[in-house]
Amino acid sequence: MTSLRPVSTEAVETDLGSVADRVSPCATDTSCEAVYDWFVAEPDRLVLPVVDEEARPVGLVARNEFLQTLASHFGRSLYLRKPVTALMDPDPLVVEATVPLSILGDRILDEKPTAMIRGFIVTKDNAYHGVGTGLDVLKLSMEKIRRQSDDLTVAERGASKANMAKSRFLATMSHELRTPLNAIIGFSELIRDQVMGPDAMDTYVDYAADIHNSGSHLLELINDVLDIAKIEAGKIDLQRQDLILQEEVGPLWRGFTLRAKKKNLILRIDAPSEPIACFADPRALRQIVTNLVGNAVKYTQNGGCIRLSMETVEDHSIRIEVEDNGPGIPKSYQARIFEPFEQVDNSYQRHAEGSGLGLALTKELVRINGGKIGLESAPGEGSRFWIVMPQRQPAG
Ligand SMILES: Nc1ncnc2c1ncn2[C@@H]1O[C@H](COP(=O)(O)OP(=O)(O)OP(=O)(O)O)[C@@H](O)[C@H]1O
Ligand SMILES: [Mg+2]
Repeated sequence: MTSLRPVSTEAVETDLGSVADRVSPCATDTSCEAVYDWFVAEPDRLVLPVVDEEARPVGLVARNEFLQTLASHFGRSLYLRKPVTALMDPDPLVVEATVPLSILGDRILDEKPTAMIRGFIVTKDNAYHGVGTGLDVLKLSMEKIRRQSDDLTVAERGASKANMAKSRFLATMSHELRTPLNAIIGFSELIRDQVMGPDAMDTYVDYAADIHNSGSHLLELINDVLDIAKIEAGKIDLQRQDLILQEEVGPLWRGFTLRAKKKNLILRIDAPSEPIACFADPRALRQIVTNLVGNAVKYTQNGGCIRLSMETVEDHSIRIEVEDNGPGIPKSYQARIFEPFEQVDNSYQRHAEGSGLGLALTKELVRINGGKIGLESAPGEGSRFWIVMPQRQPAG
């Protein structure tokens, strides 16, 4: 096969650039004889681009016209020794690889409809890059339509998922609000109407205590929902600072012990005697630990054990673990319980009080403090929740 003088071209892959056929172009002084040999050796090529010394396209040789001319009566004797410029189209359609598909279509229709069949030259920064054909345009159009339809499907799925989440949230919220509100209205009616007679003070005090509990539960619920909403909207006021972990967690311990005592639970804390530095928002840190220990106390059966441990880990992080020997959490629930309102659906855990927001809030608080949360658990074998948070302010 006759080799044509190669002219260097720079390849940059864009949409059109990546589908263009990277045919090696020939130089302006290439003879028609060399081009003829090339077409004979390359039976599938329909065009040959011609470029100048700086790799700028100057013309396009169309296979059929070229071979027909050479086959004509005096064609061979007239042209064989002449440069290719004598038989090229000096005004081919030239488009940059980055041209949007819609503009490419318009330009073909307006400037050179024959380019759809004969092809056009694709350039990159005005230098020759490859040859495009109608088939490439069709391929790009189909790819674009497929992408648009994929995007639409994803957007549609996202919208319907968000809609379902919203409906589920409203249904759960109204249930969670209605239960304590019914108790408040019911018990206050009993007191107002003195249904147990004017002297049943002890009973009315019990009713008042129920009203107080339901009110506190409502407030807790609404605070948690507002906190999650604030974090999601990026509106939470975080005061991340250098802390000593033991100094933040220590004061919580008394409250935990009191709650554990009511259930005969053994509480243990494992922490080194030297201070553990930590970089976090103190209020968030206390809430994270309180939620995890609160769950361990709530879900572990009477007489169980709970261990809270704190340590420094190699990569300038701290690790806090809250471990219990309670009912454990099945694998299928382990990711879900970090979502709002998700609770393990078994008789023991479902009958404990709570609305299923604690871990969702905890996860968000850990995240905005630059940390991670995880869980190791199996039914009947207890649970170990862990969090890892940075020890120092991240650089930058
Ligand atoms: N230590 C644990 N042992 C067993 N199950 C747990 C434990 N911690 C959490 N769970 C399960 O995960 C669910 C979600 O916990 P989460 O703290 O988010 O909600 P909650 O405790 O039900 O309610 P809230 O914390 O909002 O008062 C719980 O309902 C419970 O089923
Ligand atoms: Mg909880």
